[in-house]
Amino acid sequence: MKTAIITGASAGMGQEFARHALTIFPEIECFWLIARREGRLEELAAKLEGKKVVCMALDLCDETSFDVLAEKLRDDKPEITLLINNAGCGYLGNVGETPLDWQTRMTKLNVTALTAVTSLCVPYMSRGARIVNVSSIASFCPNPRMTVYSSTKAYVSAFSRGIREELRDKGVTATAVCPGPMDTEFIHLGQIKGHSKTFDIMPYCDPSSVAEGTLLSARAGRAFYTPKAFYKFYRFVAKVTPQALMVKFAWT
Ligand SMILES: NC(=O)c1ccc[n+]([C@@H]2O[C@H](COP(=O)([O-])OP(=O)(O)OC[C@H]3O[C@@H](n4cnc5c(N)ncnc54)[C@H](OP(=O)(O)O)[C@@H]3O)[C@@H](O)[C@H]2O)c1
Repeated sequence: MKTAIITGASAGMGQEFARHALTIFPEIECFWLIARREGRLEELAAKLEGKKVVCMALDLCDETSFDVLAEKLRDDKPEITLLINNAGCGYLGNVGETPLDWQTRMTKLNVTALTAVTSLCVPYMSRGARIVNVSSIASFCPNPRMTVYSSTKAYVSAFSRGIREELRDKGVTATAVCPGPMDTEFIHLGQIKGHSKTFDIMPYCDPSSVAEGTLLSARAGRAFYTPKAFYKFYRFVAKVTPQALMVKFAWT
C-alpha cells in the first residue's frame, strides 16, 4: 500500500503537509501520522477522507520509539512513497544558561530521531519515492542564542544533501525545506515569541504555503526549497560571506 509517513503531524506544518499531500501526492493510499498527542492525530485522521490512517503516539525523543516504528514497519511492510521528517523543536537561550533538557531535546528530536526514522524507512522506499526533511533558515549560519537549534538544522540540510546522493541510483530523492519564522506552537514553546528582536522584525512565512511549495518541490525532485525571496537572498548572502563575519549579525 502506497504510504506517507509524517512526523510531527499533530500541529503546525505537519498538519499542512498531510492536507496538501492529498492533492499533490494523490496516489498515497495510507498515512502514518506520528507525534505524542494522539487526540490531535485522530482529529487530523478524520480529515483525511478516503485514506487509511495509522496514528502512532510516539515520543521521538525516547529511543524506544524507534523500536516501535521498526516493528510496525516489519509487520506491515508498507511501500513508503513519501517520508516527511517534520517533527522538530527549537529553544531560545544561551548554552549553559538555559535548561540542559532544552538543548538535548533539540539534538534528540531534530538530529537523532530524524536520522533514525530515515534509516528505518529507506529499506521500504523504491524508485520515485520522496523524502522531505524540514530544515530552517537557521541552517545557513550559526545563530547565537539559538546555537544548538541552528547547528541541528545545519545537520538536517547536510544530511539531506548526503542521503540524496546515496539514494540517487535507487531513484529516491530528498528535499530539504528552509523556512523562515512561522506562527506555530514552535515559537511559543521555544520561548522565542516576544523574547527575540530578530524574530519580531523578520518576515513570517505561512505554514500552508510553505507545506504546499515544499511538496511541489519534492514532487519535482529538487534538493532544496527556501520560501520567500527575502530568505532566498539571505541564503545567497550567507553562502558568499565568511562565516566568522556572518555570525556577528546572525544573533537571534
Ligand atoms: N515555526 C517556525 O518558526 C519554524 C521555522 C523554521 C523551521 N521550523 C521547523 O518546522 C518543523 C515543524 O515545526 P512547526 O513550526 O510546525 O512546530 P509545531 O507546531 O510546534 O509542531 C511540532 C510538531 O512536532 C511534534 N513533536 C514535538 N516533540 C516531539 C516528540 N518528542 N516526539 C514526537 N513528535 C514531537 C509535535 O507534536 P506533539 O507535541 O504532539 O508531540 C508537533 O506535531 C520543525 O522541524 C521546526 O524546526 C519551524
